[in-house]
Formats: sequence, structure tokens, C-alpha cells
Amino acid sequence: MIKAIEWKHNRLFIIDQTKLPGKLVKFECKTPQQVAEAIVNMKVRGAPAIGVVAAFGVYLGIKRPPLAKTFEQLLSQVEKLCAMLGKTRPTAVNLFWALDRMKRCAQNNRDHKLSTLRDILLREAMNIYKEDERVTKSIAGTGAELIRDGDTIMTHCNAGALATVGVGTALGIVVEAAHKHSGIKVLVGETRPRLQGARLTAWELKQARIPFHLITDNMAAHFMKKGMINVVIVGADRVAMNGDVANKIGTYGLAMLAYHHNIPFYVAAPVSTFDRNLLNGDLIPIEERDPAEVTMINDKPISVPGVKALNPAFDVTPHRYVSAIITELGIVRAPFDQNLKNLFANLL
Ligand code: MRU
Repeated sequence: MIKAIEWKHNRLFIIDQTKLPGKLVKFECKTPQQVAEAIVNMKVRGAPAIGVVAAFGVYLGIKRPPLAKTFEQLLSQVEKLCAMLGKTRPTAVNLFWALDRMKRCAQNNRDHKLSTLRDILLREAMNIYKEDERVTKSIAGTGAELIRDGDTIMTHCNAGALATVGVGTALGIVVEAAHKHSGIKVLVGETRPRLQGARLTAWELKQARIPFHLITDNMAAHFMKKGMINVVIVGADRVAMNGDVANKIGTYGLAMLAYHHNIPFYVAAPVSTFDRNLLNGDLIPIEERDPAEVTMINDKPISVPGVKALNPAFDVTPHRYVSAIITELGIVRAPFDQNLKNLFANLL
């Protein structure tokens, strides 16, 4: 099974996703700064994976000399590390969720010896890791129930094992459905500008021996009109409490197309991807990335010299276009505001 992130012998290893599908290269992140660099440059990406790796980044920071000598010093180290790691990518709320957990964990364990507290923080990072394994498995199982024999599933970006530390969210469902049902086919949108669909989802599906076709992003409407797509499943970077969903740029267009063609549009998201402070998606910060990602492919310019480009990395799909959100706690449908309130009522 693909492991995007591994914690082995007290060391953090990451698959460099910028090198896929050409090369499978793992490298060690030794410092929190290296973790931050890996997130910014998308060597590690996908909302849950970013959260997990950032939690380990905090631990890497506090275990290096100069070691804190008092609880206050240690807490201040944790807070500074969280602030630094929190500046890497603004949209995926899993990052802030994981960093908040590390901060809370430090605050709640002030009575321990400092060496024990460091161990407790490592255990918290490992809990976040293990929870993601459990949660993604559960989402995959639940979501696969929504798929029927012979369905062609369209997906966008990469919400697979590479984007999590488990089986993935949206792509976890696709893989599980392909095992449970007969005749499942997949259409993979290439996902300009970073090509996560063409590079990463295609790589994962090939590893899993699941039949798929790669299409360019602008082909989706054509295939929907022809009746060649039965269901769309995507992941999410942040879900607001009214069910609005931030995900990879292009998701909103796909959702509207699916709505127009009466095709179910499902979002797979763990509880850690819900922003319980946000009432609607207009408030979700959208990451703007380097225009060079749009003007170049594989370091080669594709437009006129000096061309200006816009590069929002995510968009927000209004909840009316979402058929259901698949979580580890069950499937949520409209009215999302009420049903999400009920879903979270029993959680801390
Ligand atoms: O910019 P990326 O590659 O980090 O964007 C990833 C996505 O948009 C995924 O769909 C999302 O994070 C969910 S991953 C389970």
C-alpha cells in the first residue's frame, strides 16, 4: 500500500509528489523548516496529509536542541512552530486542525516532566496519523455503497492515498467500489495547473489496476452530455457549516455541470476537513499560487513572453450543487446546515 508519509525509527519520510509519476522518491524531513518547505512546494499535498506532516513538524522542532528548560519555553516553542507551519498553505483546514491539536495537547499536559511532554506530543502526532488511516477506510466503505455495478465515476485532482496517510477519501471510495462492484470505470480529470489528476490519481489507479481514462478538464461537459459519467466524487480542503465545499480549482464547474446533467455529485471529507467556525464558504481563504504554474508546463513556457496569469488553487462549490457529503460519521445530505449541526452535536 502507498504511504505518502512514514514515521520510522523516530524519523519522518515523505514521498516527493512533485517527482511522480516519473520517479518514486522518498526523502527525510529532518527539521520543521524542511516540513514547511515540503508543504509549500507540494512535495506533500492533500488536506489530510498536510495536517499529519505538520503535526510531526511540530515534534521535530521541539526535540531538537536547544531544548526548552521550562514548560513555558516549551509551549512557546510549540506556538512558534505552529505559527510557522500554519503559514504554508491557507485553504486546507486540516492543517490548522492538526496544529491546534498539538497546541492543545501541550497546554493540557503542563504537569508532566518536559521529556514526558515531548513523548506525549509525539504520541499526539501519531494519533493524528492513525486516525486518518481509520477514518479514510471508513469513508471508503461508506461511499462505495453509493456506487452501482457498471458506473463510470469521474474524479478531480487527487484525493487518494497520496493525499492522506490511509486509503484516501474520494479515490479511496473509487478503489473500494471497483473491488466491490463489477464493471467500474473511472474518468480522471487532468487538473491543471499542477496536474494532480494526470500525475497522481492516474499513478494510484494504475498501481491498483483499476481501468481509467485520462481526460482534459474541459472534456467533462461533453462526456456528461453523452451519458458517459454516472457519478462525480471529489475530496475537500474545507467544508463550511452550510455544506459549501472548498476543493481544487475546477471542482465548482464540475459540480454545476453534474447538477445540470442530473448526475450525483459527492464530496468525501473527514470530520477534520469541516470548519466549525465558518457559517458559509464565502469566508474560506483561497490560496493564490505562483502564476508560473499556469504559464509553464514542466518548466517550459506555454504562452507569450511576459504573459500575466491568475492562479487560485481552490474554488468553493455552493452546497446546492452537492448531492451528499460522505464522512466517517455517515452520509450527510441537504439541508446541510441542520444535518451538519446534528452530526457534530455529539462531538467535542
Ligand atoms: O493543492 P492540493 O493538491 O493539495 O489539493 C488537493 C485537493 O484539492 C484534494 O481534493 C483535497 O485536499 C482532498 S485530499 C483527500
